[in-house]
Amino acid sequence: MPSRPLAVVVLAAGQGTRMKSRKPKVAFEICGWPIVRHVVEATRPLKPDHVVVVVGHEREVVEKCLEDVKRVNFAAQRQQRGTADAVKCGLKDLAEFEGDVLVLCGDVPLVRGEILKELLTSHRRRKESVTVLSAELRNPASYGRIIRSDRGEFLSIREARDCNDDELTIREINTGIMIFDAAQLRRGLRRVTPDNDQAEYYLTDVPSILRELGEKVQAVPCATPDEVLGVNTFEELAAAATKMRMRILGEWMAKGVHVVDPATTFVDRQVQIGRATRILPCTVIEGDVVIGEYCEVGPFSHVRPGTVLKDRAEVGNFVETKKAVLGEGTKAKHLTYLGDARIGAGVNVGCGTITANYDGKNKHVTVIEDGVHIGSGTVLVAPVTVGRDATTGAGAIVTAGRDVAPGDVVVGVPARSLSASRPGGKQG
Ligand code: UD1
Ligand code: CA
Repeated sequence: MPSRPLAVVVLAAGQGTRMKSRKPKVAFEICGWPIVRHVVEATRPLKPDHVVVVVGHEREVVEKCLEDVKRVNFAAQRQQRGTADAVKCGLKDLAEFEGDVLVLCGDVPLVRGEILKELLTSHRRRKESVTVLSAELRNPASYGRIIRSDRGEFLSIREARDCNDDELTIREINTGIMIFDAAQLRRGLRRVTPDNDQAEYYLTDVPSILRELGEKVQAVPCATPDEVLGVNTFEELAAAATKMRMRILGEWMAKGVHVVDPATTFVDRQVQIGRATRILPCTVIEGDVVIGEYCEVGPFSHVRPGTVLKDRAEVGNFVETKKAVLGEGTKAKHLTYLGDARIGAGVNVGCGTITANYDGKNKHVTVIEDGVHIGSGTVLVAPVTVGRDATTGAGAIVTAGRDVAPGDVVVGVPARSLSASRPGGKQG
């Protein structure tokens, strides 16, 4: 493929009225990322020179969705006057840009880099001025229709609300993903008029405008229509989330992670999992979590952001972890909360253990060193440290600041040392 500069423009200034929420539609999450972030990440494999996200409605919220994403610029569209106007706003800082411009809507979370790469390759190989990605849908619903001549040449895109009854039967739709030659795009945008049912400036008019100017314009059907559908309602959001979830689990299974029941397993995009780890049913793994090799997670585990499970660590039934590091071979198998905890290797965390990390104002850290045995029903009131190879008895409440010395055994409420030589240990 001849190397030409590429700019990506993602349209995300609209409100998403069908969600009936003030929160902008592209900010709703799927598998740990806002919808718009999935879209931006899908363009990464194309190595674009510029990525511009057009924001308007609740723009701060949308910008926040992308705060961890590098090399993204925002362009403001103050009034939502249509998709052509949005692209114009997106190009404001790229007035001199020459090359290709990929335009996508911010609401297509399932789009994959491969699809976009194929489209770009086809666009460049055929030296088109515009290549529109279309899709054949059984139910074309409210999508814009691709109008072709009898010979099958692309003529125009017509929005569903502007279609006559015959045109509404067309099943080839505009996915909203288009690649333009930058100069031609600017030329077309200058000629768009708000001459339609919504009195908006439609980007979908640009391909036919350019065709009439004698430019090469093509609509290429997508082989996997499911992946280019927009999310407009909560029903569509849930359906897209399920597809994304299955894609993520499929990728992990291919890398040697044993997912026992994908239907009840929820793993966010950011999660890392080592090979030969087994994930049992009804398990939720959220956010920036790192799981090693040969671990076991679930059934019924809730593994939350900031959790690290080192190799062979295990968490089981009704165990919740958050900002918790579990060392190699450490086990917490039943009814346990581990939050803001640094736990060493070879620790056994008994059934019903709680790290009481929150004092009503601040979160505090619990440290459990290597080889510790935490008895069933222990409450560890942070900040507190349980030293190497120590033991807590069943039902012990280890209070804040009363660290347990290495090798010591503490029991009771509040927990006291059983060791005669160290009455109470440091707990005095
Ligand atoms: C649009 C297309 C339609 C296509 C469909 C694919 C137009 C006119 N129609 O319709 O042909 O089948 O997408 O999903 O382009 N936006 C802005 N500023 C605006 C208006 C919209 O940034 O002034 C953004 C929205 O946030 C959204 C995207 O553009 O991400 C598409 O807008 P939306 O209103 O959802 O368009 P559709 O009616 O779905
Ligand atoms: Ca619309």
